[in-house]
Amino acid sequence: MAEEKILEIKNLKKHFNLGKNQILKAVNDVTFHVNKGETFGLVGESGCGKSTIGRTIIGLYNKTDGDVLFNGENVHDLSEKELFKLRQKMQMIFQDPYASLNPRSTVREVISEPMEVHKLYKTKKEQNERVYQLLEEVGLNRDHANRYPHEFSGGQRQRIGIARALALNPDFIIADEPISALDVSVQAQVVNLLKQLQEEKGLTFLFIAHDLSMVKQISDRIGVMYLGNMVELTVSDSLYENPLHPYTQALLSAIPIPDPDIEESRERIILEGELPSPINPPSGCVFRTRCPFAMGICGQEKPEWQEVEENHFVACHLYNEKVKKDRRHEPVVNIR
Ligand SMILES: Nc1ncnc2c1ncn2[C@@H]1O[C@H](COP(=O)(O)OP(=O)(O)OP(=O)(O)O)[C@@H](O)[C@H]1O
Ligand SMILES: [Mg+2]
Repeated sequence: MAEEKILEIKNLKKHFNLGKNQILKAVNDVTFHVNKGETFGLVGESGCGKSTIGRTIIGLYNKTDGDVLFNGENVHDLSEKELFKLRQKMQMIFQDPYASLNPRSTVREVISEPMEVHKLYKTKKEQNERVYQLLEEVGLNRDHANRYPHEFSGGQRQRIGIARALALNPDFIIADEPISALDVSVQAQVVNLLKQLQEEKGLTFLFIAHDLSMVKQISDRIGVMYLGNMVELTVSDSLYENPLHPYTQALLSAIPIPDPDIEESRERIILEGELPSPINPPSGCVFRTRCPFAMGICGQEKPEWQEVEENHFVACHLYNEKVKKDRRHEPVVNIR
């Protein structure tokens, strides 16, 4: 079956000008696409630029360079009016269900606000019916409509956030760390709800997370980011079975394994050194200052984004044929 792209990100850059000649390179030349109906997981540690990508896709931030195409339309070329219309199709669920819901609004108001802004229903009655329907779809009930967000648990609040994101019947949802603030026991429930809604409504998700443990269960493909750059991208199974980039290998080795014997015997890769600043990123490969395999070339040249196996992209000199020959460097095998 031919895959249809709903979103294409091409060489996207988002730099913030901090004044005094300081430029913060939050997103630096990122390319990927999301297929219709899939969940694309975007992973990387705090500050690597995940939320900035999300906000730039949805048009909350202007881009510095590159393109964001949604259904073939260049998001940053649209007029205010066109962007407003597009927002119906693209929604965002935020990380912190405590901060993202207005504490002074009832659940009904929180969920119906986007409907009112977009004038979706002619009568209050129709709108209320839709609010009740949404509450039920996310596993809450109509009696919750008149309560306030603080009366709910974290997981329930995130369900309210999901209902709000669904209010305009979007095709595409950016879920920015939707489970990070929740208890582990509740995380799986919210992930299952998202999966179920995806099946029922044919939704496409960009699912942002800072670790790889939960992302595997929900994502079809995963992109790994480090300091504003995409370093590896492939289908979920191959990322776990055959991680190529040393950073991905380190991230995977940080996931605890429930079996104590395996847990004790396996090798854990601890990254040395501090995360560099995106204001003054390392030359060449941005990961080289913490990479256990760094070579001379890593400081001199930025590694190319190359497809080393079908659907498996990586930006790392270890997989560059020329570098391999020149230095007779053994390619790293799975070091987990
Ligand atoms: N509006 C802004 N102005 C200036 N710098 C910003 C702005 N938004 C983000 N940044 C910076 O851009 C970089 C990327 O931030 P971003 O929020 O995208 O990271 P993230 O990957 O979402 O991290 P987290 O996992 O903590 O949410 C950070 O260094 C951050 O300080
Ligand atoms: Mg973020």
